[in-house]
Amino acid sequence: MSTQFWITLSISSSLVESMIMNTLTATATAHPNIAFIKYWGNRDDTLRLPQNNSISMNLEDLYTRTQVTFDLLSTQDYFSLNGQPAAPNALERVTRFLDLVRQMAGKPWFAQVTSYNNFPMGAGIASSASAFAALSLAASRAIGLQLSECELSRLARRGSGSACRSIPGGFVEWQAGEGDADSYAFSIAPAEHWKLVDCIALVQVTHKPIGSTEGHSLAGSSPLQVARIADSPRRLMICRQAILGKDIESLAQVVELESNLMHAVMMTSKPPLFYWEPASLTIMKSVIHWRNQGVECCYSLDAGPNVHVICTTSSAELVKTHLLQIPDVNQVLMATPGGPAHLEQA
Ligand code: DP6
Repeated sequence: MSTQFWITLSISSSLVESMIMNTLTATATAHPNIAFIKYWGNRDDTLRLPQNNSISMNLEDLYTRTQVTFDLLSTQDYFSLNGQPAAPNALERVTRFLDLVRQMAGKPWFAQVTSYNNFPMGAGIASSASAFAALSLAASRAIGLQLSECELSRLARRGSGSACRSIPGGFVEWQAGEGDADSYAFSIAPAEHWKLVDCIALVQVTHKPIGSTEGHSLAGSSPLQVARIADSPRRLMICRQAILGKDIESLAQVVELESNLMHAVMMTSKPPLFYWEPASLTIMKSVIHWRNQGVECCYSLDAGPNVHVICTTSSAELVKTHLLQIPDVNQVLMATPGGPAHLEQA
């Protein structure tokens, strides 16, 4: 009997075993990421095709772990988050995403999704990025698909744009692409390349009033968005070179410019979006002051008031101490560059 026969037989018998138990399960972990060059505004909202490339760093110490179990007897999807049944809108978003996975696999099965985040959600730390990256990997494996990194990144993008950057490891670029097939993320340097630290100053951990999805659709209403997009190739180039050359000064300049540009677009869209709180601005000004005094750091804010202070390893403890002295900074989370989304052993 041929080797291929035995391989086929053993694969089918494990599938049969799972089917006898009526379940197909996989668990995956993924890290959120902080964007150095931001994704803000889509060319196609449904496919989540962005207007510009973006660059980010995965955050090792923060994660989402998700177990997906396709239950052959179930008649609907279930989604629990941090031990609680998820809100109806969150379940609906997960179900829409699982529909894509079911379509790819040609299987009609419903799933039980159990997810856990070790960090606060919806407050400018991209929980949707790690959530949909982990869900893409766990759901595709559980249903029997073996997707390449590029295919997984494309799939994750459909759940949340920034999630495509949480599939590869380390420092990552998402190429905007022309369409669904070439809009995905890849590593530009592994996590070990540069031991930066992201000190995340938490000033508020309540859920943000306007989420990113709605925000993206408003970007085009700002007169500044056209200029932000037109200049993006230049900033991308500076950012790539700063990462590859481990040039903190150059990185600091481009990361802060990028954050300011995105927030300028947000504040001038219709209606305007103000994600900063007074403490956010205090931190930004302090970071510039510390850098002028020789502390290697810079700030970046996503769609929330919490401030990511990116710094070198030698500056990290000092930055944390300084941050904790600012009134309204409740907590500082620390994260080093993170690896790719990965499966957990059963
Ligand atoms: C400000 O990826 O959260 O964090 O695709 O609608 O889920 P959806 O948006 P999302 O947008 C991220 C916006 C950002 C910038 C970034 O991470 O690049």
